[in-house]
Amino acid sequence: MKKAKGKYRRLGIVGCGAIGSLVAELLEKRKSSFRVSAVLDMVPDSALKLSKRLKSRPTVCAHLDQLLPKCDFVLEAASVKASLPVAEAALKSRKPVVMMSTGGFLLNQKKLSALAVKHQTKIYLPSGALCGLDGLKAARQIGEIRELRITSTKPPAGFQGAPGLTQAQKRSLYKSKIAFYLYKGDVWGAIQRFPANVNVAATTALASGNPRKLKVRVVSDPQIRSNQHEIHVRGDFGELTAVTRNKPSVQNPKTSALAIQAALALFERLESYVEIGT
Ligand SMILES: NC(=O)c1ccc[n+]([C@@H]2O[C@H](COP(=O)([O-])OP(=O)(O)OC[C@H]3O[C@@H](n4cnc5c(N)ncnc54)[C@H](O)[C@@H]3O)[C@@H](O)[C@H]2O)c1
Repeated sequence: MKKAKGKYRRLGIVGCGAIGSLVAELLEKRKSSFRVSAVLDMVPDSALKLSKRLKSRPTVCAHLDQLLPKCDFVLEAASVKASLPVAEAALKSRKPVVMMSTGGFLLNQKKLSALAVKHQTKIYLPSGALCGLDGLKAARQIGEIRELRITSTKPPAGFQGAPGLTQAQKRSLYKSKIAFYLYKGDVWGAIQRFPANVNVAATTALASGNPRKLKVRVVSDPQIRSNQHEIHVRGDFGELTAVTRNKPSVQNPKTSALAIQAALALFERLESYVEIGT
């Protein structure tokens, strides 16, 4: 796809883990018009290591006030908790922000949307590790969505350290030989309990336009090797079921490789003359 010509856009990355690092390296490799100019991580060594791997040698920043003047665009790839201050600061300086931690957007939707309007600056929420959102967005344009469900299933390692695991769940996580539910409920509870696992649920809830409608299930399955997400939508348009079986990222088993690729696809769309998909 032909890219829009023009100046480079300076990209500031907050969070230099699995997503931030690979997106930075691949944008550089594919000669994107987004050039990583500044990096920030709460573990300074992670930002330093990433900077050294990039030809653009982005400035390693100690805080957001230092990063923002050095970029035109921000990628948040840190955590649900970190995403609010990052997005707030970016919007207040009129820098568009890509939020990978979409759960952070859902929890602060009113505040962040108001800031985006006030400063006339966009927030981008990539589809991440999930397919089917294009259909869901189209489905809600006319008529009603009557049923909306997402089931996220991962191997036990994908839930290591999740704040919402009960004591009993912690004990069974690696012992159980069969799949079991870790959570059944609404999207807000899912984000509080499994913030690093259910960004896809947050994105689905937001794409539906009616987050209250979404039923979330989180499953640990010792028999699978993939991070699997299944969305089911039923409404006046008809019915949609989309299953995505993702390979976990090598650096972070909680994160799917497709989430990283979705961020790259978003940057590709931003520099393209032709946009494909809803
Ligand atoms: N939208 C999706 O489908 C999707 C999919 C996977 C992951 N995610 C989310 O994207 C985010 C990044 O994922 P990842 O796999 O790269 O995680 P990761 O743990 O590999 O990397 C996160 C990095 O951010 C840094 N960090 C954490 N808090 C920070 C803060 N306050 N300031 C600066 N740096 C901070 C960490 O030190 C780490 O280096 C997570 O919130 C994750 O849940 C979203």
